[in-house]
Amino acid sequence: MKLSKDLLNNLIEITSNSAIACYPYIGKNEKVLADKAATDVMRFQLNNLNIKGEVVIGEGELDEAPMLYIGEKLGNGNGPKIDIAVDPVEGTNFVAKNLPGAMSVIAISEKGNLFNSPETYMQKIATGNHVPKDTVDLDYSIEQNIKNYCDETRKKPNEITVCILDRPRHTNIIDELKRLNVNIKFISDGDVSGVLLVADKKFGVDIFMGIGGGPEGVIAAAALDKLNCKFQGRFLFSSKEEKNRAKKMGVKDLNKKYEINEIVKGDSIFCATGITRCEFMNGIVRKNDKYVTETIFTYEKSALQIVKKEISIT
Ligand code: FBP
Repeated sequence: MKLSKDLLNNLIEITSNSAIACYPYIGKNEKVLADKAATDVMRFQLNNLNIKGEVVIGEGELDEAPMLYIGEKLGNGNGPKIDIAVDPVEGTNFVAKNLPGAMSVIAISEKGNLFNSPETYMQKIATGNHVPKDTVDLDYSIEQNIKNYCDETRKKPNEITVCILDRPRHTNIIDELKRLNVNIKFISDGDVSGVLLVADKKFGVDIFMGIGGGPEGVIAAAALDKLNCKFQGRFLFSSKEEKNRAKKMGVKDLNKKYEINEIVKGDSIFCATGITRCEFMNGIVRKNDKYVTETIFTYEKSALQIVKKEISIT
């Protein structure tokens, strides 16, 4: 089944409205309120869609009972069966501090085709579609990945850039990249965007690597899949409780390295509206009696597309 253009347009409308819901909280140091405002709007509008939807990546698990919890049924029940991954605010710190990089995100696929990620960390690696898929791999050493990438692109290490979350857990990777003389782009948050930077050479990132959120990994993979890029992920668990939760969600092999086609299958749509300005698009702009939003999306073409919308202030 192909996901319809109408559904795409509806999703763009929804992420635009959830992003707008955050607008009053930009720079107010209120990340919980910002997330709640976006989540409420996203949930309400997803429930009005002609779909039989189920949240597979959400704001938390059933026992925490948040809005948009994993397993929550969405839509009016008339229409295609859809798996839904939501991140109403990706980069809550960015909204709180009025920093670039916050966006409101939804990814969908046909039922059963989007990985049901536990709320845990994931080790990730990604590259663009200009190199063969086996150029980099989670199982290679950092040195091997850099060598392979340089051989493939005929570049020197000091001509390539690796994007990574700036976290103490990455000290060893960062030291190794410095030793190899590779340029590093540090991001303070928002690794869905970080991963997406490999999708087009104009963003200046050759490889994304490091550990970030598992749900964010699945959402980024949904975008990269359509763009024909490379993504691998492996969950990391820090407690027995996390392992048990993952098993309950159907993860059989806790150490498995997931390829992109195991994370997302069949047709999918990804869309993300800028809340604050991002590398891909502008954030919300208020213009007289309207909000102007910009949304990136994947649909049919193997390139990120962008659409601008004007939404009246009611
Ligand atoms: P939130 O928007 O939920 O705050 O997540 C931001 C984020 O930076 C993700 O993009 C990333 O995957 C994760 O947090 C990293 O987690 P941590 O801050 O624990 O390193």
